[in-house]
Amino acid sequence: MLSSAAICCRSSRTRCQERHERAAATMNNQTAEDQALIRAREFQFTDSDFNALRTLVKEMTGINLAASKRELVYGRISRRLRALGLSSFGAYRGLLESGDGSELVAFCNALTTNLTSFFRESHHFDYLRDEFLAARRNAGLRSGRIRIWSSACSSGEEPYSVAMTIMEAFSDWQKWDIKILATDLDSDILACAQSGCYTADRVKGLDAKRLARFFTESGAGAERRYQVIPDLANLITFKQINLVHDLPMPGPLDAIFCRNVVIYFDKETQRALFARIAKLQRPGDLLFLGHSETLFKVSDEYALIGRTVYRRS
Ligand SMILES: C[S@@+](CC[C@H](N)C(=O)[O-])C[C@H]1O[C@@H](n2cnc3c(N)ncnc32)[C@H](O)[C@@H]1O
Repeated sequence: MLSSAAICCRSSRTRCQERHERAAATMNNQTAEDQALIRAREFQFTDSDFNALRTLVKEMTGINLAASKRELVYGRISRRLRALGLSSFGAYRGLLESGDGSELVAFCNALTTNLTSFFRESHHFDYLRDEFLAARRNAGLRSGRIRIWSSACSSGEEPYSVAMTIMEAFSDWQKWDIKILATDLDSDILACAQSGCYTADRVKGLDAKRLARFFTESGAGAERRYQVIPDLANLITFKQINLVHDLPMPGPLDAIFCRNVVIYFDKETQRALFARIAKLQRPGDLLFLGHSETLFKVSDEYALIGRTVYRRS
């Protein structure tokens, strides 16, 4: 469990906000700052530097950076050089090779892409409500165990959307044993998620009813912040987990959201991950992938039952 990190609400321009802005620039598009750094070419960046860094990020996170990501890597990592007062990529590689744990974390955090939003790919939340939760309700259940894992939760919009969906569907949600596990590799973004505090820009896709029910509002203008209510936050446990490593949580998990993360992994890494994920689920349990992800030729332990919705066979 992370230490409490209510950092988003404390200042107008926080690390969370900066990460959100950077997330808005996808792996294909650099931010204006990235582009300025690239133009300035402050540091020499050789093929050997690029290959060494992409090999390391692959080993540590499973993320497979294509040759086309070279400028993005330059832009993101030259910021680390500047922050550390280093004068070359060679010196930075030396630091990483020395096994400096905190810099290895900062290195991975710098290269992850955290783009997300509330109710992103909303058909998944509709499915959760109309099929999964409705089936419980229709079976006459008035209580029971529900375990859901948001496995690459980024800044938290995904697990909070799951929690909102459950609270909306079950007026008696307090009688149920509900636990949502929200995990990510990136420790900084996980701290943002756990803070549960968002700028107006981050909540603009939510309707007024949800905003009023699930958030408390503070500040004005650029300082306006939206804090998730304790009832919502209390359904979620945040934890740092690397999907490339062993998965330490106990199953069975009724539903797993593994969305918009394996797109950065090669097939072999995906196969190994979904073999481990399958062990956490029973036949009938659900797996949600991102819009451009598939289990085709990756796992035969799931059947496709909807738009990027899979059922454990
Ligand atoms: C694009 S975001 C997806 C967020 C959310 N699932 C969604 O679909 O909106 C991808 C997330 O995957 C995380 N990630 C990348 N590699 C990971 C790994 N090996 N283990 C766990 N999380 C990882 C990143 O830190 C990032 O927050």
